[in-house]
Amino acid sequence: MPLVTTTEMFKKAYKGGYAIGAFNINNMETIQGIVEAGAETRSPLILQVSKGARQYANTTYLKKLMEAAVIESDLPIAFHLDHGDSFELCKDCVDNGFTSVMIDASHMSFEENIAITKKVVEYAHDHGVVVEAELGKLAGIEEHVVSDSHQYTDPDQVQEFVSKTGVDSLAIAIGTSHGAYKFKGKAELRFDILEKIEKLLPDFPIVLHGASSVPQKFVDLIDKYGGNVKGAQGVPEELLRKAASMAVCKINIDSDIRLAITACIRQHFAEHPEHFDPRQYLSPARTAIKEMVKHKIINVLGSDNKI
Ligand code: G3H
Ligand code: 13P
Ligand code: ZN
Repeated sequence: MPLVTTTEMFKKAYKGGYAIGAFNINNMETIQGIVEAGAETRSPLILQVSKGARQYANTTYLKKLMEAAVIESDLPIAFHLDHGDSFELCKDCVDNGFTSVMIDASHMSFEENIAITKKVVEYAHDHGVVVEAELGKLAGIEEHVVSDSHQYTDPDQVQEFVSKTGVDSLAIAIGTSHGAYKFKGKAELRFDILEKIEKLLPDFPIVLHGASSVPQKFVDLIDKYGGNVKGAQGVPEELLRKAASMAVCKINIDSDIRLAITACIRQHFAEHPEHFDPRQYLSPARTAIKEMVKHKIINVLGSDNKI
């Protein structure tokens, strides 16, 4: 099966009350861990690449790894640009085999966001590629943009934004944030905003960024083996499950992958200080990613056996 767009995935997810996991990839072991999890649970997948990942790993390598993932797994996999910050970057991805791109102009004015999103949509759609955009601003760090507080998505803007841009899915701000330190106080999401948007945009796929749950076991392992991620707190799984049962069709996860790898490698070196063959510690790290992703697919996203 070739790489697919998210169109069919989202249609089925919306109807079925589940979400597709969009996992950030930077290297081979991460792709393999995620794809093995998808294969074992029979789940569609979105593998996404940030600008930083492109710089780190080189797009050609990432693209070839994606092709290998499709050949090896025979799963429906979408290849997505995460947080594209310009028309040129989105165009480059459309021209180079991505099946989905995000144009993130959420830091611009409403009018500028519409204008650039529309431009990306026109180019992408002409080439069979789908587009995600963002309205509202997440707290935390997003590549170049740092924001201390949430700027929740204004439901009154969503219909105009979607109809003027022709965008295929919309990322919204309802209280999630990027990174491993999400909530200073109580972990809460504004489901009232999501409900309003759901009513205003019937059958339209919504995206949640900043949706790592920061499993306590990784925090504990990192602490135990000499690291320090004190105060790390993610989105509770039951809130993500609720969002997935509503209009949220795509849930973005990156920090949990980072934590899984780091916890596993720290533990490995503490237990085997004599090891220096990378395969000795990258192999259990890959398994840790697989187990974490399987847990998400079955218990949080609900995308297992949906192929
Ligand atoms: O939302 C951003 C993703 O977690 C990607 O992070 O830009 O460090 O690759 P990155
Ligand atoms: P997390 O930092 O919560 O994993 O969010 C990742 C994300 O939104 C990627 O776009
Ligand atoms: Zn994001």
